[in-house]
Amino acid sequence: MSTCFTVGVFDLFHYGHKELFRRAKECANNGGGVSKLIVAVQDGNSILKYKPNAKIIYTTKERIEMVEQCRYVDQVVIYTDVDKIVKEFDFDIFIVGSDQIHDGFLRAEKYCLQHGRKIFRLPRTMGISTSVLRERLIKLE
Ligand code: CTP
Repeated sequence: MSTCFTVGVFDLFHYGHKELFRRAKECANNGGGVSKLIVAVQDGNSILKYKPNAKIIYTTKERIEMVEQCRYVDQVVIYTDVDKIVKEFDFDIFIVGSDQIHDGFLRAEKYCLQHGRKIFRLPRTMGISTSVLRERLIKLE
């Protein structure tokens, strides 16, 4: 059994998020046998602590429930700091997006490598993001 773990905000759940989960599940499947994908969704208050001007549309509960509905996802948990949450779960592969590079991620990756976990950095799906969707919605008004 191979388990993948990934984290993010996942506001306005979109095609790029679904693609991330599909590819993450594929990574878990590459080892053969049963695979599992755990997704950690960042708590709204902790997002605002790091980015006070962040414009979050969905509540934490709404974001968790949207991610839970994706068929590639086996378990959803909430987190505040990426370098803390990676210590709380048992997994084989830490899946990170190409944009997930701030200090917390560097600390999380270091911990994972020291504890025998693999790290797979996946490219983003082009042309879609929460920010792009927000801009599209503004233009519709
Ligand atoms: N992601 C992706 N492809 C996209 C958008 C996001 O693979 N088009 C991945 C990110 O790399 C990250 C995860 O989805 O691993 C969560 O990203 P998040 O920041 O929640 O979504 P974004 O759409 O990037 O949000 P924003 O525009 O606010 O940065």
